[in-house]
Amino acid sequence: MKLEQLQKVQTGFLNTPIHELKSISQKYKTKILIKRDDLTGFALGGNKLRKLDYLVKDAINNNCSVLLTYGGPQTNHGRLTAAAAVRFGLKCGIIMDGIPPEKASGNIVLDKMMGADLFFMDDSNFKSCPRDVYKQKYTALKQKTTSEVIKMYEEKGEKVYPIPVGGSSEIGAAGYIMAVKEILNQLKEKNEKVDYVVTGFGSTGTFGGLYLGAKYYDAPFEIVGISVSEKTDEDLQEKVDYINKVSKYFDLGIDVKYEDIWVEGGFVGNGYNIPDEETRKYIYEMAREEAIILDPCYTGKTYRGLIELIKNKKIKEGSTVLFLHTGGVPGIYSNEHLEAMQNEIWNGEKKVFKL
Ligand SMILES: Cc1ncc(COP(=O)(O)O)c(C=O)c1O
Repeated sequence: MKLEQLQKVQTGFLNTPIHELKSISQKYKTKILIKRDDLTGFALGGNKLRKLDYLVKDAINNNCSVLLTYGGPQTNHGRLTAAAAVRFGLKCGIIMDGIPPEKASGNIVLDKMMGADLFFMDDSNFKSCPRDVYKQKYTALKQKTTSEVIKMYEEKGEKVYPIPVGGSSEIGAAGYIMAVKEILNQLKEKNEKVDYVVTGFGSTGTFGGLYLGAKYYDAPFEIVGISVSEKTDEDLQEKVDYINKVSKYFDLGIDVKYEDIWVEGGFVGNGYNIPDEETRKYIYEMAREEAIILDPCYTGKTYRGLIELIKNKKIKEGSTVLFLHTGGVPGIYSNEHLEAMQNEIWNGEKKVFKL
């Protein structure tokens, strides 16, 4: 499949703006621009709509009526899949890890508002197994859940289009390959040159798309991924394999090796989506310096990584950086993160006046 032949719909608003973070740039003596993929528009926006542009078109071309995807209970990708389904008259099912939380919050509230069906995979009876056994059992549970959910929809006369976690299939990655073209055009218009594009690194469609796009369009910048969860060498090799699969699918002629990609693993904090004080310090900084809201699971960590790379000079002095804001803001309103923030932001300033 040639990249140029791939069809898409428009699930969100593009192009997203690029602007300078003036106060932060001054503070860290490095020019930092931000690309606002948090402003893609629908259901509070985020990076996944770029992938869904291509995935929804493929679903429609295959006469599918249900978008079925996966994620943690606070999946932003799930929320935006629900949004894309609403916009194109489709149904949405989200298969989530774990058991249903007692109280709906954050993304789950929005999923339900948009009419998505939520299903849960309870892994509690094998959670403490060694990693390889856990992986095996998790895969079996996922297969079983998927086939039962698909059967349930098919019995109602629906046709399901499965979308992998994070929308990171070959087709989904096209969203961020094409985003490079958009970035290059915008930088040209602004007469800006960027040395690094810094993005969160999760299911890898975003990083992988940007990486391949940068090579394919001969961009003058490096792509830096900030991992949002612990990753072993084996996990990273799987990500490299995925990027190579995307390259092959679109016949890009780019061969990626493990040592080619720049992924930083030191800013995960306490683990995937676990509240973390250090990340929050950076979230507050961005809010107070720039009135831009980051999220605790992805963009807070990515921004922390970016600033620490500037401080330890892995990002070269005098360079210009483009920070990709990938969205995720509803995570701020999830039970666990709200709880973690209470003592820090709600501590004795509650002045009340009475007559
Ligand atoms: C807000 C946000 N940023 C970044 C990412 C990471 O993107 P990817 O999964 O493509 O690596 C995600 C993925 O869910 C996300 O929701």
